[in-house]
Order: sequence, then structure tokens, then C-alpha cells
Amino acid sequence: MSVAKSLPHDSGPLHVSGVARYIDDIPTPANTLHLAFGLSTVARGRITAMDLSAVRSAAGVVMVMTAEDMPFANDASPAAHDEPILSDGTVHHVGQQIFLVAATSHHAARRAARKAKITYAEEAPILTIEQALAGNSRFEEGPRVWTKGDVDAALKAAPHRLQGRLEMGGQEHFYLESQAALVFPQDNGDVIVHSSTQHPTEIQHKVAEAIGKPMNAVRVETRRMGGGFGGKESQGNALACACAVVASLTGRPAKMRYDRDDDMTITGKRHDFRIDYDVAYDDRGRVLGVDFTQYTRGGWALDLTIPVADRAMLHADNAYLLPAARITSHRLKTNTQSATAYRGFGGPQGIFGIERVMDHVAHALGLDPIEVRKVNYYQPMAKVRAGGAGDNSTPYGMEVRDFLLHEMTEKLLGTSDYARRKAEIAAWNAKSPILKRGIGFSPVKFGISFTLTHLNQAGALVHVYQDGSIHLNHGGTEMGQGLFLKVAQVAAARFGVDVSRIKITATDTAKVPNTSATAASSGSDLNGMATQAACDTIRERMAECLATLHQTTPDKVIFADDRVTVGATEMDFSQAAMTCYQNRISLSATGFYKTPDLSWDRIAGKGRPFFYFGHGAAITEVVIDTLTGENRILRADILHDVGASLNPAIDKGQVEGAYVQGAGWLTTEELVWDDKGRLRTHAPSTYKIPACSDRPEIFNVDLWDGENPEATIYRSKAVGEPPFNLGISALLALSDAVASCGAGYPDLHGPATAERVLAAVKRVRG
Ligand code: MTE
Ligand code: MOS
Repeated sequence: MSVAKSLPHDSGPLHVSGVARYIDDIPTPANTLHLAFGLSTVARGRITAMDLSAVRSAAGVVMVMTAEDMPFANDASPAAHDEPILSDGTVHHVGQQIFLVAATSHHAARRAARKAKITYAEEAPILTIEQALAGNSRFEEGPRVWTKGDVDAALKAAPHRLQGRLEMGGQEHFYLESQAALVFPQDNGDVIVHSSTQHPTEIQHKVAEAIGKPMNAVRVETRRMGGGFGGKESQGNALACACAVVASLTGRPAKMRYDRDDDMTITGKRHDFRIDYDVAYDDRGRVLGVDFTQYTRGGWALDLTIPVADRAMLHADNAYLLPAARITSHRLKTNTQSATAYRGFGGPQGIFGIERVMDHVAHALGLDPIEVRKVNYYQPMAKVRAGGAGDNSTPYGMEVRDFLLHEMTEKLLGTSDYARRKAEIAAWNAKSPILKRGIGFSPVKFGISFTLTHLNQAGALVHVYQDGSIHLNHGGTEMGQGLFLKVAQVAAARFGVDVSRIKITATDTAKVPNTSATAASSGSDLNGMATQAACDTIRERMAECLATLHQTTPDKVIFADDRVTVGATEMDFSQAAMTCYQNRISLSATGFYKTPDLSWDRIAGKGRPFFYFGHGAAITEVVIDTLTGENRILRADILHDVGASLNPAIDKGQVEGAYVQGAGWLTTEELVWDDKGRLRTHAPSTYKIPACSDRPEIFNVDLWDGENPEATIYRSKAVGEPPFNLGISALLALSDAVASCGAGYPDLHGPATAERVLAAVKRVRG
């Protein structure tokens, strides 16, 4: 039975009918306590006095806690122990948690939390990159620097050279289900935690620290998230820990969910970046050397800033073979929310940097931006594998051996009718004084694997019951991306049964331990392989048993079409399971997988951090109104490489969603902090994510027909994050439309809001 099928998402009917269970839908006993945090209203300073008497006496309040009341660890950080769940007396951003209220209802807790009287000795906050640099406010002693070749020599000898600066904003995750946790106390102070998290093992670990117990006292279950997008790798820790502490102190269930405004005020977002570049190139636009300086605001606590900033450096080359490069990365500490993982994990920021360099070089030479990109591409896979392609290494010393973008670009240029449309747009623009159209192309080459090598492991647990139904569990979490279905398809294929036989179950730290976050797009790569191993163990035991009973050899036992053929005998899979059970065969197994061949020295910036690369390319057409800066995406054509897809329908959905989310990042989604460090865009009224009506009117998404040359699960490739980067083509198209208004380079930053587009039009018109 082949694994690849365009099956609909297993929870699709539940999602659209509103009955899929999220944390807030889990029935709770009447004595459940509802929690809310009291939040800092200043960005930086010290608490000089805190009067919580009005909070304590407010209606419905059962308990109020501050840092001193925390019985054990008071820390929510994923790494550095620098993120107190409740303030230690100092405050570092507006929205930091200071105290905790437990009340008889969600609204009672929230209302009470607002009654605190807190006075602060305020200090001047460090909010911007410039302020952080001036104050040398950093997470590491100095910048991280990785190099390839002699950049200074390349810049000095350059036939052409240009410099520029690019700024790009952060991004709110805007998962539809906000952060939530629910904890049920058990015997002896143990707890069961339901958490909307991409990382149940980390929740387990942090909760164990918070209640002063070993990890085996904590069981975490996650059935699904209403979206995560990276925002639930670490940001759920504080809620789960708070609920667990209250549950273990009171013996009552405890539940917490953030209201949307609180969620946006408290939790971290995508890292914003400033990238300075200095580039040497020849007459054809071939880059001879590039010097990138990346600056990022990490917010108040470390969280995942180091690996995010590393991944931005690791994608500073994107699809381009750079003979010489220097990438410098400044990880700055600011009095803002602690920036965190967000789809692409720094990769999009690094990629956007070099995509703007390509456009800038093309503009300076008067060449087609696609031609400039093509002369800079890495060598094609076929040429490299035949030998003799010469240097094809990234700035971090990894040889690129699977590069597909030459072929993919040619195909996309054809299917999108690029050349004809480009000429047609130029002719249209010449006659249209107010509205201007633009077209932009961006490719992506995205590295797959966690850069922290030990995270590239996964486990699975599979049971075949005596009636032939199958129970599947693995360490991955479901956030809408279709992971559970893809892995169930793998299990079905290994047993030769229909996927309806497979029960997809909630992620559970008691079933599969020591899991990594479902992140880095590696969910199906890792959990698919672990599940395959578990299924194969059981299938081999079954084959052995059935072969013995029917006096044949295990290789004559065939599992296909929901049946098992044993030599001349054929039986239903259920009957095979019953027979094996009656013959006392263990029908339960675990499976384990670790990604092979990885080696990475992140300090030196050398090695093979990635197992392989995923590729994609997009062409976006837009129209702008030069009087207002308002704009629309008219059409997007995408060709994306997911190897041999496990489920083309799910994968296409991922590509579409990722593109729209990427385009949102660089067009309408703008985060604005005022000079006191207050986030002014903390609700959908002021923060604009793309709606259905903002998707391209014409949206052609195709998957590249190919196999992963590396031995991944059924030769598929990761899909979750790479196509996010294709949204960059939307900004490049806006920039192209602006360029048609004058002679100057449209120095357009992200997000290219209507205001920024309008300002850029004015600039290029001089
Ligand atoms: N798709 C949906 N619908 N919802 C999500 O939250 N998260 C993205 C991506 N696609 C996400 C999504 C992110 S950030 C990652 S890392 C991957 O899914 C994680 O899942 P995977 O490893 O199974 O692809
Ligand atoms: Mo995705 S940012 O790796 O959760």
C-alpha cells in the first residue's frame, strides 16, 4: 500500500464543526481555580512597593502569590534560568508577570489582577537596536562572526561595490487558540498537565522544577494546538508552571488561558532585525564577496535567541554560492517581550537580507533580478554528484549536494509566464499614472535539522490490539500542520492497512519520553522514522509467528490491502492480530530514530548542521496605489520541493499558509512600541494579519516532482517552514512597483505597509 495520499486532515470535520477539543474545551470540575497574572506597567525598573490587598479581597479570589510564595523554582526559561515566572523585584518589560491570582472564574481572576497598587523606581528602558548598542546590552560578550574566504580583499578588488541597510519588523504569532494550560492534581502531589504546547517534555521539565518533584511525577498531554507557529515552543511554560503550583498547593484543578491582549502583551514574537551589507560584484551581478552585519532584538530574556540568531546567519547565503562572506551577528538585550521562535526560526530574516542584496545589485546594473539570482545560484545537484563542480560550500563550510533551484526556476518561469507578464506590466505601467504594478521573484533553500544536534531524535509507541485496531503515539505534536495524519499514513503503510485502522492519539510524556519540540519542520522526518521502526518491529514479530503456524518463512508473509497473505493462506489483518495474540506474541513496540551524519561547531561556524535542504520559488505580482500606498497581491505562482510528498494535499496547504503568513510578515503586520516600551498593537484592531480576502486572487501552488536524495521517511522532505520565505517575493514585487515610479532604488523595509510604500514612491520620484 503506497503511503502517499491526498487525505484530508484527520481533524478537519471537527475543526469546521467547532467540536475539536482545545484546552479550554476540556470539561473541568466545579472546584477548578482560574488563574491570571498581574502585569508590569513599566518597561524597566525596580518594584519599591506592592499593595495587593484589593486584589486579595476582590470577589472570587482564593489565592494571590508573589515570587516569595513560589515553593520551588521560580523560572519559566527554556535555557538560561533568567525568566522568573513571577518578578524577583525587578521588571524588564511592560507585560512582565509580577503576581498570580487564583479565583473561582476566569473573569474574577482577570478583574482582580487589575486592582494591584504597585510603585516602581523606573529606569530608562533600552528599547531599540541603537539604544542596545549604545548601552552594550547583549546576551553574549560580543558579536558572533563566521567567515568564508577573504571578504576584505574581495571588497577592495571589486569591479563594483555597494552598501545598504535593511530593517525588518517582528511578527506576532496570532495562533487562534491563545496560550492555555489546565492541571489536575493527583495522588502524592503528582500532576497531569494539559498544555497547548509544541514541547510537552519541556513543560514536564519546567513543571517538575516548579513543584519540586522529579519528571516522573508530571505527565503532560497535548492533543492539538489551535496553531503554534513557534510561539508555543517555550511560551507556555509560565502558564503550566503557575497552574501546577496552584494545583499542588490547593489540591484543586487549576486552569489558565491568556486573553488575546494579554497574550500579545506578555509573550515573545519573531525577532526583528537590522541587516547592514557591503557587497562586491561583477558586471553580470555575480557576487564576489559580501559582508553582512545582523543585529537582532532578543527582548528581556534569552529564550531561544541564540539558536534563532544562528539560523539567521546560516541562511545569510540563501540559494547563493558566495566565494567570500563575513557574517557578524549581534544578539541584543532589550526591555521588550522576549523574542522567540517563529516559523523559519531566524532563517527568513537572514534570507530577506541577501534577497535584498540581489535586488539592489540588479537595480544598480539595470539587470533582471532573476538573471542576477541565477548567476549566483549554487551548482546543481547533478553536477555536484558527478564530481568536478568545484567549490559549492556554504559560508559555514557545508557542501551543497542537493541543489534544485536551477531546474525549479526554469519550470516556474514557464508556468507563470514570467517574461510575457513582465513586459506586459511594463507596458501597462507606462500608461497608468496612478496605479502601478510590480512583479517579484524569490527562491528559498532552507536547511533541515535542529542546529542543536542532540535534538534530532524521536520516539514512537505502537500497539496492535487483538481486534486488529492500532494505537499510534509519538513525540510530535499537532498544531494544524497535519503531522498526526502523515505519521498515521506511515504506520498504515507499514502494516499494509487502511489509515482508518490507526488511532491517532494525544502526545503524552508518559508514552514517549524525552522528546524534542515539534519544531524546525522536522516533525514528520523524525516521528515518521521512529514510527516506522516501531511498526516494523511488530510486523516482523507477526510475520515470524504466522510463518511458523503455516510452515513457511517470514518473507512469504505479505501485509497489503488490509489483509495478510501467508504462503497460500490469506486472512484479514484483524484475524492475523488475533492469531498472534493467541500465540502470545507481543503486539506493542517502541521505535527510535536519530538523524545521521550531523556535525556542527556553532562557535567556529563550521560543519554539517543540516541533513538536507528544502527548496522553493515564488513569483508574486502586486498593484500599488501611488496616491495612498495601498496595495494588493494579484497573483502568486509557487513551485515548492517537498521531496516525495507523504500527503500532497496537506503539503500544499502548508505551502499556501506559509506563503500567506510570510507575505503578512513583510506587508501588513506591524508591531509598534511607544517610547515607554508599551506595545501599542496588542489586538486585532491594531495588528493586521492577512485575512482570506488578502490571499492572492490567482494562487497557483505546485509541488516539485522529486525524491529526497537523503534517506528520509519515504524520501519526503520537511515542509512546515521553508515556504514561509516565499512571502518575501511579495515585498520584492512591491519594491518593483515602486521602482517603476522613478529612477532611485526603492529602499523598502519590512513590513512594507501602505505608509512605507507611499514614502518609498515619494523617494524614488526624488
Ligand atoms: N501549520 C499550522 N497549521 N499551524 C502551525 O502552528 N507551525 C509551523 C509549521 N506549520 C504551524 C504550521 C512551524 S513553526 C513548524 S516548525 C512546523 O509546522 C512544525 O511542524 P512539522 O515539523 O510537523 O512540520
Ligand atoms: Mo517552528 S518556528 O520551528 O516551531
